Amino acid sequence: MSKQNTVQGVLTGMRRGGGGGGQGRGQGGIRFGNEPGMRPAGMSLADEESMEQRMLAGTGDTDKRARHQHDQEVFHTLLRHHDQIQRELTRLPDGIRSLTTSANPEIVGLLHDHVPAMHHRLEENFGLRFWDPAFPEIFAQREKVRMEVTLVPNGVLVEETSEDPNVVILIQAHGAVINLFVQRGFAQAQEVSPLPDNYQRVLGG
Ligand code: HEM
Repeated sequence: MSKQNTVQGVLTGMRRGGGGGGQGRGQGGIRFGNEPGMRPAGMSLADEESMEQRMLAGTGDTDKRARHQHDQEVFHTLLRHHDQIQRELTRLPDGIRSLTTSANPEIVGLLHDHVPAMHHRLEENFGLRFWDPAFPEIFAQREKVRMEVTLVPNGVLVEETSEDPNVVILIQAHGAVINLFVQRGFAQAQEVSPLPDNYQRVLGG
């Protein structure tokens, strides 16, 4: 298989801080996760997706719809290949430092796409996973979150910090959620993410 070409495709499809427009589709290498039959049976992710697509359709914003679809394909593929991802998470007094890597260059390409894209979505408040309170909370707190992303040859180095101790709890909880995604893949993505009791929510519910 033309692994090298596929990797190139993924990397050139990367758009720093924005997510690509659906480029980088695997050809013979890793396939994106939205093909029929690829989704786990009876899962709430499907509900989430149709809800988000309906919501985005209502805005008439085709660029955002395409971006969301691309982002979704990327994180589904990461979830599907979670066993090829390694992660070191360090708690800092004011947040986290994480190093997320893979020996597979195609996965590295997806990490290089996903993390800047999510950083950008946080900055512009382009939310997702609305049914899982930890996610809307971090979007609601985005102005208090500082995220520094460094793309390294085998993955992504991130420092995510806040001056607000309550937001530090949230950032650390998110770091732990990504660990669970890496450990358990889709099985974890179907579940509500743990949010510590001592975190004070800013959204209702
Ligand atoms: C195995 C799967 C995944 C991997 C390896 C991954 C990796 C990462 C990494 C490295 C970060 C930077 C923050 C940190 O290091 O803790 C991040 C942030 C983020 N990811 Fe993912 N991710 C995965 C799945 C998902 C899924 C399924 C979603 C949503 C449906 C998602 C949404 C986000 C969002 C919104 C952020 C920015 C907010 C935050 O820092 O938590 N990720 N991801």
